[in-house]
Amino acid sequence: MNQHTKPNAPVLDSYWMPFTANRQFKQAPRLLASAEGMHYTSTDGRTILDGTAGLWCVNAGHGRRQIAAAVERQLSTMDFAPSFQMGHPIAFDFAERLAEIAPGPAGQKLDRVFFTGSGSESVDTALKMAIAYQRAIGQGTRTRLIGRERGYHGVGFGGISVGGILNNRRVFPQLPGSDHLRHTHDPAKNAFVKGQPEHGAELADDLERLVALHGAETIAACIVEPVAGSTGVLIPPKGYLERLRAICDKHGILLIFDEVITGFGRLGAPFATDFFGVTPDLVTTAKGLTNGAIPMGAVFASRKVHDALMHGPENAIELFHGYTYSGHPAACAAGIATLDIYRDEGLMTRAVELQDAWHDAMHSLKGLPNVIDIRTIGLIAGIELQSRDGAIGARAYDVFVDCFEKGLLIRVTGDIIAFSPPLIAEEKHFGEIVSILGDALKRAK
Ligand SMILES: Cc1ncc(COP(=O)(O)O)c(C=O)c1O
Repeated sequence: MNQHTKPNAPVLDSYWMPFTANRQFKQAPRLLASAEGMHYTSTDGRTILDGTAGLWCVNAGHGRRQIAAAVERQLSTMDFAPSFQMGHPIAFDFAERLAEIAPGPAGQKLDRVFFTGSGSESVDTALKMAIAYQRAIGQGTRTRLIGRERGYHGVGFGGISVGGILNNRRVFPQLPGSDHLRHTHDPAKNAFVKGQPEHGAELADDLERLVALHGAETIAACIVEPVAGSTGVLIPPKGYLERLRAICDKHGILLIFDEVITGFGRLGAPFATDFFGVTPDLVTTAKGLTNGAIPMGAVFASRKVHDALMHGPENAIELFHGYTYSGHPAACAAGIATLDIYRDEGLMTRAVELQDAWHDAMHSLKGLPNVIDIRTIGLIAGIELQSRDGAIGARAYDVFVDCFEKGLLIRVTGDIIAFSPPLIAEEKHFGEIVSILGDALKRAK
């Protein structure tokens, strides 16, 4: 009997679900009822190990009372306050706390913080900041935005324009002038690598090609995920990000790192910016910012970008941009409590301790049926399966459903399985993941 035919089961008709095959799902729904630590409990009472930190966001694990209490306190003190030409202390406090750990080396930290409501909003905010910056420094012809094939930058019109995943783009019009670097995925040269692959730094030179094609004077910014997640875990080749930074500098192009999934400890440093030692001009974040407890995003801007916009008459609004929920008090409360947990439990760097065991566990799946690549970095893994003829994604979807039934939440994109467990994970969880996934891979047709 399907869940939705059981007594007291929810009626599923009205909710139009995001990024979901609605009709298929409603035939055989997978419903989660509660969560604690590393686990979910499904509505039919099964315990499910969270291999994905929800959706790359619950870095400190589920059910953190400290966050719930902070949100409760804030909601009963002041539920909402406007942030346009007004303020409330907790938003400033949270921004100051974020500035302390902001991406970048001492002296060059991106410590000016703009709040949004999600990763997509952070991306569109950063793209607009880049264009506004260029105009403010007298480079108003620079409005073109460069992304990368297979990039995912959320679902706003800006994000899909620089994003490079076909299904997210083909139905919708995009911003005129946006263009793309090639992606860096090259399994023929880089299969089964732990950490950064050796081959592919020269792909950054695509930006030179686009400069030659369009003229630097038309390009405002280039945005990439330092480690691409939603497209199936693409890890930057050694030297690639450095080269991109150098080309941007040479041509006056701003570099934006989309750290919506890599921010807040995923790689073993607070940000991928710190992990790779390459400093962009803008960094977009969300997800781990509040441990996923309350929707929120933040853009970290360099002083260069921020200060360039703090010009003109003092009574003029410098950036005509913002959201009703920018700096929402409850989200700020969740964020501050989250940062306390990250600090007190050392979670921003915990992936360093875990990564060897994690990489070994994931790479132990090499040799199982249909596994054509395994790639790992920090507390992330991508496991790529051979696609069935004419049915891209079908095999990984079957593995996803099988794992869910056996008590493991994985994420699949096409025929790639992505893992990003909460940063509180222990080695025993890695063994459990390998065992459940390994069995599912052996069963998968
Ligand atoms: C790199 C990246 N950017 C942007 C987003 C969009 O974030 P949201 O779904 O919060 O809008 C995501 C979501 O997965 C992401 O991975």
